Amino acid sequence: MKRIAVLTSGGDAPGMNAAIRAVVRTGLDKGWEVFGVRQGYAGLIVGNFIPLKARDVSGIIQQGGTVLGSARCLEFKTEEGQLKALRALHQQDIEALVVIGGNGSQKGAYDLWRMGFPVVGIASTIDNDLYGSEVTIGVDTALNIALEAIDRLKVTASSHQRAFLVEVMGRNCGYLALMAGIAGGAEAVVIPEVETDPEALAAELRSSYERGKSHALVVVAEGAKYNAEGLLQYFQKHRERLGFELRATTLGHVQRGGAPTAYDRLLATRMGAAATEYIACGEYGLLMGLVKGEITGTPLEEAAHKKKEIDMRLLRLAEVLAK
Ligand code: ADP
Ligand code: F6P
Repeated sequence: MKRIAVLTSGGDAPGMNAAIRAVVRTGLDKGWEVFGVRQGYAGLIVGNFIPLKARDVSGIIQQGGTVLGSARCLEFKTEEGQLKALRALHQQDIEALVVIGGNGSQKGAYDLWRMGFPVVGIASTIDNDLYGSEVTIGVDTALNIALEAIDRLKVTASSHQRAFLVEVMGRNCGYLALMAGIAGGAEAVVIPEVETDPEALAAELRSSYERGKSHALVVVAEGAKYNAEGLLQYFQKHRERLGFELRATTLGHVQRGGAPTAYDRLLATRMGAAATEYIACGEYGLLMGLVKGEITGTPLEEAAHKKKEIDMRLLRLAEVLAK
């Protein structure tokens, strides 16, 4: 009989609940005891464990957020905080921990693993900035929410011959912005990975205006040097150059709170089930991620240290498609 624990950490992502449910039910199916940790690493440090049975995870597969709660916990980044977490795990006789979260959370998971505790990670963040998974849990839902907003903004933009700057999340990663830009038919995409010259962007918008477009939509990643607010301020001084009137919308946390899409529920379920399989085989220190269509274990060390690159060919494609 094994005793395992599961926690969600960092920014919540739609599909985290499906992952919790899969860990709990596949763990129970193996005859294990499963515990949830409330509020991520903050709860782990103070030993906030709750037993989870099959019925405790009923009706959550379709819910966004995380029923376990999440946190950004500065204390856990210190050795003292991590030692407290280890003590709490040992006091509860927990034999393995599943960490569902993004790149910060997986750095923490790697630290626990380095300190000798059996850990398996599950790649979950709307930013899709985690090495070891081509797509992370929550991205598909966040992207669909952003697209719905973009489609609506295009309607009103067209009625008024306006240009819209739409800021999407992603922290320092431009993945969400690039994909939302391509799928939303944007005139331009601004991402942190490429330095944007606001003058060149102004010329692009002017050219769209002169080519007879009824609107122009620019998807801006929040982490870009010029975010939506920065670009708005820049352009306000040079309004006449754009042709279009300009408005800015920041989508913010709206992107995070939605009900998970079928894709995210299935991805999360597969990763959750894979996590308990790896634990059953005694294989730890791995991140469950999607690699070439398969749920694959990548060393947490790599996930914690390697940078996931964005496919720059897609940026070029976005430019071509905007013509
Ligand atoms: P995400 O996991 O979504 O990227 P954060 O970057 O906020 O979110 O990380 C979540 C939590 O993981 C942090 O609040 C902290 O407790 C822990 N964490 C983040 N970075 C590190 C790190 N370098 N080392 C150890 N723990 C970390
Ligand atoms: O990491 C997910 C994310 O939503 C980022 O896209 C964003 O920069 C950040 O979290 C926002 O953090 P918070 O919810 O703490 O404001």
